[in-house]
Amino acid sequence: MDVNDLGRRVAADVAGGGGLDGLQRLSGVIEALEERRTDLVEELRRGREATWEEIGRACGMTRQGATRRWSGRLRARSFGLAAASYQHGRPGYPQALLGSAVPREARRVLDLGAGTGQLTGLLVDAGLDVVAVEPDQGMRDRLAAAVPRAAVRAGSAEHIPLPDASVDAVVVAQAWHWFDQAAAVPEIARVLAPGGTLALVWNVRDETEPWAAALGALMHRCDRQQIDTAPVLPAPFGAPERLEIRWEHPTTPAGIIDMVASRSYVIALPETDRARLLADVEHLLATHPGLAGREEIAMPYLTRCTRVRLG
Ligand SMILES: C[S@@+](CC[C@H](N)C(=O)[O-])C[C@H]1O[C@@H](n2cnc3c(N)ncnc32)[C@H](O)[C@@H]1O
Repeated sequence: MDVNDLGRRVAADVAGGGGLDGLQRLSGVIEALEERRTDLVEELRRGREATWEEIGRACGMTRQGATRRWSGRLRARSFGLAAASYQHGRPGYPQALLGSAVPREARRVLDLGAGTGQLTGLLVDAGLDVVAVEPDQGMRDRLAAAVPRAAVRAGSAEHIPLPDASVDAVVVAQAWHWFDQAAAVPEIARVLAPGGTLALVWNVRDETEPWAAALGALMHRCDRQQIDTAPVLPAPFGAPERLEIRWEHPTTPAGIIDMVASRSYVIALPETDRARLLADVEHLLATHPGLAGREEIAMPYLTRCTRVRLG
């Protein structure tokens, strides 16, 4: 049977007698099919089994249409490919963040897009009852091993596997820019109890030191992504409270190489470009007057937090 005939037959079966019930069933099936299509595109790209041109053709789109549609999502889901580097090289968060990211009265906290647990550990150590939601299995496995007292769940910001009004606070560290925000805002509002808070957090490298600026220049040569670290949130959230903390992350030359290797745009580079960038970072670490010969390096960061309350 021709694939279009098959599609029409399946659609007619699913829609059944039509009406709102039929519409709901059709929408559910379309969403599941779209999800499967995205998984397939991801598999084909990760294994480098098909070009964007070929994927576009298979989907009845241009190459540009296919990349526009899926490349952002692929990058958002690429961290698991460098989970070990992520866990070793990425900074945690300063203790002073807790007071502003999570209100004093909160008990049940959701760490959304929790990665390998850089913030989750801090929340658990503060005595909070923490659920960590993370879509990538590789990241989740490391998170569960590193922070065994957190309840680790598979899920995403667009489909949070928690009941309505079940947490007092949601924190999103270094991940908000990867979400489909139009879907994430109502989903986060759904799981928050009345008056609950949402905190969006980013670690930004402070490039005041010449060596940190030189490292940034190397990294920026292949990164064009601009992240808004002071976002404005729509209703039902209220006015933002903002905080900035300057601090230093103690690391090593190997930690800095892993920090670079775990950036999504570095994971996405062709292998030769990735190897060249990491070799250039290694060269900088060995030769820059501010870095050469140092076994321990204090990496300066600014942590930015925007907190909003459910109206
Ligand atoms: C840069 S990492 C941040 C991890 C951790 N929160 C931290 O502070 O280190 C971004 C994380 O968001 C996850 N992620 C990507 N898209 C997501 C989505 N739609 N919903 C939830 N998490 C997502 C990625 O798998 C990744 O672990």
